[in-house]
Amino acid sequence: MKIKVLFVCLGNICRSPMAEGLMISKIKAKGIDHIEVDSAGTSNYHIGEMPDNRMMETAAHNGIILDSKARQFSRVDFEEFDYIIAMDKSNKSDILKMARNDEERQKVHLMRDFDDNSAESDVPDPYFGGQKGFADVFDILERCSENLLNSILENRT
Ligand code: 4NP
Repeated sequence: MKIKVLFVCLGNICRSPMAEGLMISKIKAKGIDHIEVDSAGTSNYHIGEMPDNRMMETAAHNGIILDSKARQFSRVDFEEFDYIIAMDKSNKSDILKMARNDEERQKVHLMRDFDDNSAESDVPDPYFGGQKGFADVFDILERCSENLLNSILENRT
């Protein structure tokens, strides 16, 4: 059976597409074929758009091509996905408001719960900052996605 992972941020054009791209690249590198990955935003601000150019540039600089189109998180995602990974506490709280039962609530985690290098709880929103913010987000997501993938493979989460 496929394991399905959904990354969620606010706009679905910066953090969650980058997390999706990193996870897909790690899965491919490990030759894994039973994990599927997607991303979504809690807002409707950027539906249908490609990821932010600054995020795509940072990704490409690290050998990753982002090709997702923004979509909005919806209730159906609770049925479709096994893991729903929020980029910050505000995203998590917005997702949990839409959950109907404990089974759905238990699918929701914070990305930085998988950070072994920092106790911060949020992947910072890089949208209103400069290119450095995007590089920082990449480093955080690189660490967290590696740990998340290992945790899923070892069935710890
Ligand atoms: P993301 O970043 O949630 O990482 O995709 C943002 C993108 C757009 C906006 C905010 C955050 N915005 O306000 O339009």
